[in-house]
Amino acid sequence: MKSKILDGKRLADKLNSELKEKVKQYVEKTCIKPKLATVLVGKDPASKIYVNIKNKTCQEVGIDSVIIELDENISKEGLKNEINKLNNDSTIHGILLQLPLPKNLREYTPEFLEEIVPLKDADGLNPYNRGKLFDYNEELAACTPKGIIKLLEHYDIELKGKDVVIINRSNLVGKPLIFMLLKRNATVTICHTSTRDIDEYIRKADILIVAVRQPKFITNEKIKENVIIIDVSTNRVEGKLCGDVDLEDVLEKCQKITPVPGGIGPMTVAMLCENTFTAYKKQLNLS
Ligand SMILES: NC(=O)c1ccc[n+]([C@@H]2O[C@H](COP(=O)([O-])OP(=O)(O)OC[C@H]3O[C@@H](n4cnc5c(N)ncnc54)[C@H](OP(=O)(O)O)[C@@H]3O)[C@@H](O)[C@H]2O)c1
Repeated sequence: MKSKILDGKRLADKLNSELKEKVKQYVEKTCIKPKLATVLVGKDPASKIYVNIKNKTCQEVGIDSVIIELDENISKEGLKNEINKLNNDSTIHGILLQLPLPKNLREYTPEFLEEIVPLKDADGLNPYNRGKLFDYNEELAACTPKGIIKLLEHYDIELKGKDVVIINRSNLVGKPLIFMLLKRNATVTICHTSTRDIDEYIRKADILIVAVRQPKFITNEKIKENVIIIDVSTNRVEGKLCGDVDLEDVLEKCQKITPVPGGIGPMTVAMLCENTFTAYKKQLNLS
């Protein structure tokens, strides 16, 4: 059964150590270290955990990382000013705005993401970089979808002609995946809360990507034999992390599955490091 696991943690560790080597070579050449600035607004405990993991991983691969902690009552203009300070700081190569923002600022999220200069957009969520996906350019694309594709390709999972069903239509997960999967000639279906007969779509999927924030949303009786499942969610139940899929229930029937934790989470962080390095190279005109 172990062979069914798509081990995101293991691949992320491998990618991070390869990146560490590359970063070292570039720093030796340029005497300039890549640097990521993460903007954390408010005190959400889960966001704090994620930011600390990203910070630690960056440092492990040789990317300098700074966390800018801001009060949750900062004004809209105040936050834009902070982003612009980072835009104008030539020692910063990547900027990440940790989401979700506190409730009072959340409705302006698109404006804040637009404020980040596209060249420093380490999270790939600025409208310019999102637009680039229309042309199948994934250079600075969103980290979670990028990590999903990297993992599927690492395990030689064929996408051409496959029916891929994504249950999620967010800017962070579902929407960027549409273009990445079309680029690889998959047939893509997006489901959401208004989808009628969602179980019909789930049952037809060759590859099922689920990110609905609901533990045990996917169980054995819902899936097709031999389906490949990507479980993106990180839910907390009684202090323990789990995804949207009842892994033990589906393990025998599915062909492959990502675990939670140890699946898409570490891949997302690895892609953040990769994007920061890409942004650094672009800003220094290095190939
Ligand atoms: N591992 C990582 O690094 C990583 C990174 C990013 C996100 N995540 C995780 O991924 C999950 C999703 O994140 P997100 O930001 O995309 O969340 P989100 O914005 O809340 O999106 C959830 C999506 O699921 C759909 N949905 C919810 N309940 C459903 C149901 N019963 N039937 C069908 N569709 C349903 C929603 O549909 P509507 O659009 O109709 O509301 C929405 O499109 C979260 O658990 C998050 O923690 C993990």
